[in-house]
Amino acid sequence: MQILFLNEESSIQLLLDKVYFRSHMGRIRRVIGRRIDYLAKWLLKFRIISGPAKVIASSGLAWSFVSRTDRIRANRLKDRIKQGTMPEHVSIIMDGNRRFAWDSKIETKVGHKKGKEKLKQVMDWILDLGIPYLSVYALSTENIYERSEEELDALYDLYYNGLNEMAEDPKIHDNEVKVKVVGRLDMLPKNVRMAINNVEKKTANYSDFLFTVCLAYGGREEIVDAVRKVSEEFASGKIKLDEINTDRISNNLYSSEVPDPDLVIRTSGEERISNFLLWQIAYSELHFTDVHWPSFNKKDLYQAIESYQNRRRRYGG
Ligand code: FPP
Ligand code: MG
Repeated sequence: MQILFLNEESSIQLLLDKVYFRSHMGRIRRVIGRRIDYLAKWLLKFRIISGPAKVIASSGLAWSFVSRTDRIRANRLKDRIKQGTMPEHVSIIMDGNRRFAWDSKIETKVGHKKGKEKLKQVMDWILDLGIPYLSVYALSTENIYERSEEELDALYDLYYNGLNEMAEDPKIHDNEVKVKVVGRLDMLPKNVRMAINNVEKKTANYSDFLFTVCLAYGGREEIVDAVRKVSEEFASGKIKLDEINTDRISNNLYSSEVPDPDLVIRTSGEERISNFLLWQIAYSELHFTDVHWPSFNKKDLYQAIESYQNRRRRYGG
């Protein structure tokens, strides 16, 4: 009995020791972590140290650690947002391809190519979340006037290839994604218009998902074009003045079959709308993120959706 008592006491003591040891170690680890952070910040002030520090920070080991923890975080976030109300329509202003290229010391056109590859990935993530409407701003009317001929040619090549690839992409067909391209399409070269016809024709009968690409697009131009159509109806006597209302303008926009966006995401730090879907975003939630479009990752998308869900919960009704 005595022996048993002693054993029980010592095993409880052992357990207490273990708990104390673990929490003590946890505290020590946190303190060491904070000290290392502090030291690293201080060392990075010196030019001679910042070089090797950056090399270590971007080494394979550091990268695999960061991407592993990122993946875990993204999966957790995905589980969380799946429990909330998903936006029905997500719109994206894909900004920052050139800044990404300049930062990475690659050619501008390679930055745009990375942007095109990113779009393919993001489409997969959107399909995976079951969000039925996605629209993206791929070229504005202003871009056509302001970008160099060389850059525009590289972009037109990307649209030509990208749209033709979409027309054959098994993911588009398996998920029954209808692809529509909207904007002042007559401003685009002939081969891009042919690629648009190709992808629209090959996906015309689908309706599970709708993917809208805004090309040579401007929100003001879209409103002007709608007003012109409505004015024609009025001038020909088809409609009366008091039949001109918001619904009639909405129904004459380029993509009248698409509901207004619930969430607009803009990458690359600019907090502007830049003539994108001006009429349709009257009640949309706006989310701005600092990452350049080619670096946009799953976690960034899920965070945008989570912030949309939090805001809708707060202001809901
Ligand atoms: C904005 O970045 C991006 C564009 C003007 C082009 C976006 C095009 C793609 C992502 C390819 C889309 C492909 C298909 C098939 C639809 P920016 O050039 O303004 O970069 P910056 O803000 O850093 O200058
Ligand atoms: Mg830009």
